[in-house]
Amino acid sequence: MTGRLIDEVVVVTGAARGIGRAVAAKAAAEGAVVGLIDVLAGQLASTTAELQATGARVASVVGDITDETSVAAAVAHLAAELGPATVLVNNAGKNAYADATQMTVAEWDAVFDVDLKGAWLMARQVLPAMIENSHGAIVNIASIHASLTTAGMFPYAAAKSGLVGMTRSLALDVGPHNIRVNAVSPGYIATDLLEEFFTNFPHERTHALTVHPLNRIGTPEDVAEVVCFLASPAASFVTGANWSIDGGLSIRYA
Ligand code: NAI
Repeated sequence: MTGRLIDEVVVVTGAARGIGRAVAAKAAAEGAVVGLIDVLAGQLASTTAELQATGARVASVVGDITDETSVAAAVAHLAAELGPATVLVNNAGKNAYADATQMTVAEWDAVFDVDLKGAWLMARQVLPAMIENSHGAIVNIASIHASLTTAGMFPYAAAKSGLVGMTRSLALDVGPHNIRVNAVSPGYIATDLLEEFFTNFPHERTHALTVHPLNRIGTPEDVAEVVCFLASPAASFVTGANWSIDGGLSIRYA
């Protein structure tokens, strides 16, 4: 461990499991105080207890990133417990499988609420303190689907592309306040979300392994390493970027 997040208050959404949990664990191991937000109360409680058992200073709150009242309450709760967030990791998200001609407006809104609007609601809530302190970093978890996608995943690709665009815009706007905003775009990462994808596209399970230049799919820890680097002062001249974490999948021509 490098201790590169000492003195940082890192807030992670969707931290009960998967990539969010790994980011929270890595941030704590790097010396940060960590706040966890998720809608899954039971899973959040057990993840919090596991991280606290390592000696890390961790607090959590049940919160829904799609609801502005819930976001305000969750961020205020964590700020009271840990101090204002200096790092925000917008990780909570969900897959979407739909046919553009069949899906309803309510289904569209439900995807965009989680995969795009929630990241803005969270940023809106934490940015005032970051601006006041002239210090902060935001890392948005986008997806390989922001640049390459799979038939049948409309409108996940649209929402994640929007998240990369929002990353660039926000980076420009808050850069003068010494706040950096970056995105990462994971490819296949072994989580419950990926299992859901393989259930929907069973042929992809074996195909996925064969197309990776590194011959494996990723782990939540692979993502957490890059996220924590981008969140840390070690990446002090990186902003507005979107880093692939996909084992080289997106460099293939065919
Ligand atoms: P996951 O489904 O295992 O975990 C997502 C977490 O977000 C869950 O704990 C869930 O309860 C939480 N969450 C969902 N909606 C929420 C809401 N409205 N408010 C608060 N929390 C909420 O998924 P995974 O794989 O860990 O994904 C994390 C992020 O990484 C997502 O944004 C996903 O789109 C992205 N991603 C994942 C990839 C993969 O292969 N697993 C690939 C590319 C991107």
